[in-house]
Amino acid sequence: MRRNVIIDCDPGHDDAIAIIVALANSEKLNVLGITTVAGNTTLDNATKNALRILEICGKDIPVSMGYSDPLLNKVQTAAFVHGESGMDGPELFEPQLKPTGKHAIEFLKETIENSLEKVTLIPLGPLTNIGVLLKTYPQLIEKIDVVSIMGGSIYGGNILPKAEFNIYQDPEAAKMVFESGVNIIMAPIEACNEGGIYFDESDKFVEGGKVSKFAYELFQYYGQYCKKNGWPYTVIYDMTAVICLLHPEYFESEPMRVTIETQGASTRGMTVCDFRGGAHIGKCEDPVTVLTHIKDRDKFVQVLFDSLKALDSQLS
Ligand code: BDR
Ligand code: CA
Repeated sequence: MRRNVIIDCDPGHDDAIAIIVALANSEKLNVLGITTVAGNTTLDNATKNALRILEICGKDIPVSMGYSDPLLNKVQTAAFVHGESGMDGPELFEPQLKPTGKHAIEFLKETIENSLEKVTLIPLGPLTNIGVLLKTYPQLIEKIDVVSIMGGSIYGGNILPKAEFNIYQDPEAAKMVFESGVNIIMAPIEACNEGGIYFDESDKFVEGGKVSKFAYELFQYYGQYCKKNGWPYTVIYDMTAVICLLHPEYFESEPMRVTIETQGASTRGMTVCDFRGGAHIGKCEDPVTVLTHIKDRDKFVQVLFDSLKALDSQLS
């Protein structure tokens, strides 16, 4: 099955890698467009980075800019992870490609409406664009196959002890998405952590072609943050939300009720995952498919290695 997909993102090193994996697997994923949102970096930076990624991969796909801040707060960028540009490391040229000039919400609405097949959304950043879209145009939900979200956590957190960065940035928008009734797959940080790329694996990217070298530079920069955390590998969170569409058989998942905490003094942005199951999940009409584990880490990371090679050879 070939899915029509739209990627909503805030690149971001791991967003960049996720986009690369999606573009390389065009026999399974037809990327109709990319929409950008403020998160890891400002909206302007995220948009330029998305255009740069496409240019490096030799693809011309529409990029539309969305919201420059979360619904209630100002964006708190993650320069401590991704650098001031949001994608520090590689040489950042001025992209020749330009954004569509259409707001992300209008692009998403029109593209979903005009698609003959249902569309899959892949949000990799704060859920501001997707929350507003579903709240404003709930009639689109029947044309959305699934929303494959990188965000949230089952037990812990990263930006807070109990909250993950993407959901924490805009909990109100996340609540709109999780309460909309749309079909959701959630890739929480716990599952993403199981798919780390060891440093000696990413060091080999330097031997490849143009896209591999770009990935090498991304990994070199982003790896510093992972090393500071004492991790033996680089965690490419956002890639998980793409690979679970390509290879659902590589994952274990469970249906859970997921509610978004918007009030808690120390838990704002928490995804409260009800994993009690049994009689309790029976009361939940729209459980979220939560990825609980990566079954086969080697096969999972091989998707990235194959994707880099595929795009390298398209460009050579
Ligand atoms: C998420 O936050 C961002 O820093 C990453 O791009 C990823 O989407 C991980 O918590
Ligand atoms: Ca991201």
